[in-house]
Amino acid sequence: MDDEKIKIEDIKPDKSLRILTGDRPTGKLHIGHYFGSLKSRVELQDKFETFIEVADVQALTDNFNNPDKVKQNVSQIVMDELAVGIDPNKTTIFLQSLIPEIAELTVFYSNLVTIARLQRNPTVKTEIAQKRELFGESVTYGFLGYPVSQAADITSFDATYVPVGEDQLPLIEQCREIVRKFNSIYGKTLREPIAVLSSNGRIKGLDGNEKMGKSLGNAIYLSDDETTIKEKVMNAVTDKNRIKKDDPGNPNICMVYYYHNLFTNKEEVKNICEECKKGKRGCVACKKQLIESINNELKPIRDKRAYYEQRPNEVKDILMSGTNHAREIAKETMKKVKKSMKLDY
Ligand code: TRP
Ligand code: SF4
Repeated sequence: MDDEKIKIEDIKPDKSLRILTGDRPTGKLHIGHYFGSLKSRVELQDKFETFIEVADVQALTDNFNNPDKVKQNVSQIVMDELAVGIDPNKTTIFLQSLIPEIAELTVFYSNLVTIARLQRNPTVKTEIAQKRELFGESVTYGFLGYPVSQAADITSFDATYVPVGEDQLPLIEQCREIVRKFNSIYGKTLREPIAVLSSNGRIKGLDGNEKMGKSLGNAIYLSDDETTIKEKVMNAVTDKNRIKKDDPGNPNICMVYYYHNLFTNKEEVKNICEECKKGKRGCVACKKQLIESINNELKPIRDKRAYYEQRPNEVKDILMSGTNHAREIAKETMKKVKKSMKLDY
């Protein structure tokens, strides 16, 4: 199986190529998203024609019983994107549910994938195991099939590159398989997308958990205010073996140090490491310094977010005009697909 994937620093800028990424609107974005994907999206928008999908239909596959949650988070996600520097003049931000061509394409693709293949998809498998409470003994047809719908998201826009985290690779691979099958049956119509891995990988939670997330309660949100950041950092896990200020510490088991690496300049991080090891640094002071570094980075983001929070209509306009533009492209793809499938009545 060839699972083509490349690193973000290895792709050559080319404005004639498209990038597509997406997020399920199920919660506000946190700094795990920021380092894992948002920062690179801001860079990529100058190098490619960039599309960001707010995947509300996909969010419903495991939140079908909670439509309010999905709806509320649509504008939250858009504001998060704009706050970090996604520029609507460069990037098309659009809403999945307003592009019916994606749903139509999903139906056509569903003939090209077997149930067994979907059940074998590692991402789907893991997620089903995590969602026992929602699905009970048997998973829904919609959830099992969401990789098919994601393949429709990607191919509707003829995307060349799809920047994703490690956990999404099986979905891109499945998309590539669908494309190959489609092209072999109906003639060459679709492009096989390439997964682009972010160099940062996954950011750990403040509690040392491998993953940062809302349900885990260990995340720093882009929308967190200064007081919230302070509380969270003050509760972060440090080297528990240190009792007195002059006990030598081990920064490598300390989450405060881990976060200094993300937010504080390199020279100072070296200094923190040395001082900690020599027992010349108190954890409280170290945490205070981290709070300052985080606030320095998040302040402009927070301010920009506040601007959009005051202007819901502007946020809506950005999403709607992006969606209109995206729909034009999806329509063109649908025309080609229908022609190949002999459905061009
Ligand atoms: N499945 C992705 C996630 O949970 C979100 C997503 C939806 C996506 N459509 C996409 C990602 C298309 C990349 C391309 O994060
Ligand atoms: Fe962590 Fe800083 Fe305390 Fe060392 S001094 S254990 S790096 S918080």
